[in-house]
Amino acid sequence: EMDPQERVFQERVDAGQKIEPKEWMPEGYRKTLIRQISQHAHSEIVGQLPEGNWISRAPTLERKAILLAKVQDEAGHGLYLYCAAETLGISRDEMYEQLHSGKAKYSSIFNYPTLTWADIGAIGWLVDGAAIMNQVPLQRCSYGPYSRAMIRICKEESFHQRQGFDVLMKMVKGTPAQKAMVQDALNRWWWPSLMMFGPSDDASVHSAQSMAWKIKQNSNDELRQKFVDQTVPQAEYLGLTVPDPALKWNEDKGGYDFGEPDWEEFFNVIAGNGPCNAERLNARKQAWDDGAWFRDGLTAYAEKAAERRAA
Ligand code: ACO
Repeated sequence: EMDPQERVFQERVDAGQKIEPKEWMPEGYRKTLIRQISQHAHSEIVGQLPEGNWISRAPTLERKAILLAKVQDEAGHGLYLYCAAETLGISRDEMYEQLHSGKAKYSSIFNYPTLTWADIGAIGWLVDGAAIMNQVPLQRCSYGPYSRAMIRICKEESFHQRQGFDVLMKMVKGTPAQKAMVQDALNRWWWPSLMMFGPSDDASVHSAQSMAWKIKQNSNDELRQKFVDQTVPQAEYLGLTVPDPALKWNEDKGGYDFGEPDWEEFFNVIAGNGPCNAERLNARKQAWDDGAWFRDGLTAYAEKAAERRAA
């Protein structure tokens, strides 16, 4: 039997009303949002690392300026999302601690290496493309601060997606070696991009409750299907082959049939054992430790200023 307070809450959610920070909410709703929003924030922050790797090696000044702007956007998204999570009663220090101790997850996709410049194009096209597919419905999330944060983030993500496609358009028109580099990037990023949507619906522990609370609007498999349907024609336009022998247009369902991602690889990556997990986490921990003197300075300054005001 549902608690009366909870029933009113659910009715508001069902009616499409937004839930705001100071309003009553079930503890599970709060916890789920803290988990998802903080993991999303961590993903944006860790997501700077694979691309940051190429800022100093971008092929032209223009590409370098674009990539720099894009990576700065990701930092902004992370900070924006940490703010949204803070409205639920968790501090930023706690969230950082959860990331650094390995307790909080971040997207599996950022545990793969960026080996060539084509990877930067593939990340924009596929990774940001998948991110938009997942985040556009989150603009309608029942929690006000998260839904509003998503509006601006989605606008910036679509610029990121276009810049990635543009990098690849240029490369496929280049030398055969450049075109081969793009195909190689697609071969390596295709399956990890499909994994971004999370485990298949029957293995997704949180989906049913999150959908009832309208935190999620679509299941993981629904969004994965939409992503495949949108992306395959783009791969064809680039003259590339999607590395999935099972990929086939299905007239009846009006979408593609496609193969099963390697779920063992996925669960291995989210357990911390992917190709770059240790490197990514160490980079974040190092940045935190390197910033200690600055945090100490800020705190000391704030204390002195408070003493001066009191005197
Ligand atoms: N990478 C890492 N962990 C994942 C991934 C993934 N791609 N997909 C699912 N998981 C984790 C979930 O966090 C959950 O673990 P937890 O209980 O320890 O938190 C577990 O796998 C089971 O998955 P689900 O029950 O399906 O979890 P959920 O309902 O949270 O759905 C999803 C996962 C779709 C990623 C959801 O959390 C979401 O929409 N998050 C917001 C978007 C986001 O974080 N994007 C980040 C990448 S995009 C970018 O930053 C550029």
